[in-house]
Amino acid sequence: GKIRAFCLLGLTAFVLSACGKENLTALDPKGYGAEQSFNLIILTTVVMLFVLVSVLIVYTIVLIRYRKKKGQENYIPKQVEGNKTLETVWTVIPIILLLIIAVPTVTATFNLADNSAASDSLNVQVTGNQYWWHFNYEGQEIQTSQDLYIPVGEKVYLNMKSSDVIHSFWVPTISGKMDVNPENENTMYIEAKEEGVYWGKCAEFCGPSHSLMDFKVIAVSQDEFDQWVQDMQNVDPEAEPEKAVAQEGQGLFQEKNCMSCHAIGSSPAQVGPNLTNFGDRSKLAGVKDLNKENLKQWIMDPESIKPGNKMTGNYPEVSEDEAGKIAEYLMQLQPSDVTPESAGKE
Ligand code: CUA
Repeated sequence: GKIRAFCLLGLTAFVLSACGKENLTALDPKGYGAEQSFNLIILTTVVMLFVLVSVLIVYTIVLIRYRKKKGQENYIPKQVEGNKTLETVWTVIPIILLLIIAVPTVTATFNLADNSAASDSLNVQVTGNQYWWHFNYEGQEIQTSQDLYIPVGEKVYLNMKSSDVIHSFWVPTISGKMDVNPENENTMYIEAKEEGVYWGKCAEFCGPSHSLMDFKVIAVSQDEFDQWVQDMQNVDPEAEPEKAVAQEGQGLFQEKNCMSCHAIGSSPAQVGPNLTNFGDRSKLAGVKDLNKENLKQWIMDPESIKPGNKMTGNYPEVSEDEAGKIAEYLMQLQPSDVTPESAGKE
């Protein structure tokens, strides 16, 4: 009873969690990798249902037909030993079923393992960190985090490594999972077939905030992507904000040594997330809505949002007033009009 209730609860939570977020499902594939996985899910489910139903039917027939009847309490049925035909049949059928599953699985595995990037393809260095993602567009002078912009309909090669423990990169609607290890680089390509914002999750338990290590893949048209690249390359990290309160925030951002961990612009520094296009993001720390109140809370008490993060306790004290000003500064860092809102009109 308890176990069943637990399973039901888990299943409900799983279904609800998938519904709560847009584009976080493996059952509505919008990318090449996800399509391959989805086809295998359907195939294996059909094969398993066939086995389950056949066994249940035979089981039911045997239960009814050979049950103990009245007046037969001491009846011993005919004893049988060995049957070559039967044994051959129940050996050959599973072999056939396994082949039906194995051939497409191995084929898909090899298709997805094709890591030979063309010389002109887009390569992104992905770094997994507790509990955020860094993206370095190779040869483009673009460093960013949390939101991975890609052009739709193109293979984008991700060269992935971790700065600390093992993470796993997973954007279920467009691709399969890939472990992100500290020792070696793993490469995977993703390809989105439709424009849109695709939710990503860390899929390897990596610490207290593992479940909050969310990110997004934002697939836009090639034109919009080129525009985004240009916007990001033109960022002046020292640019003075328009609003006076944001200017004060900029001063505080430097005074409080925020720059010793965070970078704005194409600096490769990455103790903490790169904030170049922070104001363009829809989420704060991957999970909270990006607004001034949440950002103030994050600056004053990041532990309350992401337990175990590296920012907690690693910067001078910040008053609520100062946090508000820093928030004003960060939220106006919006170098590009190509934002998640403009991607995928659905
Ligand atoms: Cu990173 Cu779980």
